[in-house]
Amino acid sequence: MEWTMSTMRWTAAAIPDQRGRVVVVTGANSGLGLVTARELARAGAHVVLTARNPQRGARALDEIKNVVPGASLDLRGLDLADLSSVRQFAEGLAQRYDSLDLLVNNAGVMRFPYRKTVDGFELQFGTNHIGHFALTGRLAGLLTKRPGSRVVTVSSIAAQRGRLDFDNLESEREYDKKAAYANSKLANLLFAFELGRRLPQVASYAAHPGFSATNLQGAAARHTGNRLMELTTALINRIGAQDMEIGALPILYAATYPDLPAGSYIGPDGPREFSGYPTIVPAPRAAHDEDLARRLWNVSETLTGVRLQTT
Ligand SMILES: NC(=O)c1ccc[n+]([C@@H]2O[C@H](COP(=O)([O-])OP(=O)(O)OC[C@H]3O[C@@H](n4cnc5c(N)ncnc54)[C@H](OP(=O)(O)O)[C@@H]3O)[C@@H](O)[C@H]2O)c1
Repeated sequence: MEWTMSTMRWTAAAIPDQRGRVVVVTGANSGLGLVTARELARAGAHVVLTARNPQRGARALDEIKNVVPGASLDLRGLDLADLSSVRQFAEGLAQRYDSLDLLVNNAGVMRFPYRKTVDGFELQFGTNHIGHFALTGRLAGLLTKRPGSRVVTVSSIAAQRGRLDFDNLESEREYDKKAAYANSKLANLLFAFELGRRLPQVASYAAHPGFSATNLQGAAARHTGNRLMELTTALINRIGAQDMEIGALPILYAATYPDLPAGSYIGPDGPREFSGYPTIVPAPRAAHDEDLARRLWNVSETLTGVRLQTT
């Protein structure tokens, strides 16, 4: 029987056979990335897990192996807040693999106090958008070698509040941590749709997980040692967030559902898209602004020095 969004709830059990596919998941040591990597491995994919911290990466690898004993996994280091790490990761991948079926641009940080990446970009813009922009550009050659390859970029409901001010793209003039996160997530959407226009031989989708209980909400508090904030976010997660097993479904759906229309944005089907099962959702209007997307793309090329490398 064919799965359709209108007749039944799509779950990870419906992922088609992934044997023979090579996939890369960024931020695979935690939260939605870990669930995504695990379920793709369970369906038979060879999964390249990326993590910026070797110990956290190794723990995730063991966790997946425990629940998917035959999992085919390759753990590699990748720090998206360091463009030299992105380059080294892409070069290492190209040495080991001839082609790539799927890239899941999932890793992210949210609402950090003002910080800079190694290359001097504001942390949220630098990690969530710039790092993935450079990564995708460097992996485009491997992706174009596989018919039916995909890129899934993870955005957020917060993108609805996003605004790109090219005079303050990296919060040089003023910094608002919530706005910077929303802007970076709008950038993820603009990037995903522009990638689809520039590289039509690779299907580019976007997805968002609604509100899901992961390490995301408490990460900034942990990094700054704000114990009260950490406890508060944990409580809010417990009361209001859906389980990350369901939160990862829109990503898995975008990654594997057959014949998904080009440029689809997948999110939860519940009220205000906060929770629920995967369905195609509308992207904010700004995400479809092609002039804005072109401008962001050009600026990102200049900032990273990376262009789509398809050969
Ligand atoms: N959870 C939600 O409700 C929600 C809602 C909307 C959108 N999202 C999006 O979902 C994605 C996944 O987040 P999550 O909720 O699963 O959070 P999470 O549990 O905190 O996972 C985030 C992952 O990103 C990694 N990461 C952070 N900075 C990185 C860097 N510089 N280089 C490489 N990896 C880095 C983290 O690594 P470490 O473990 O080393 O920190 C971790 O593996 C993010 O893009 C987020 O914006 C989540």
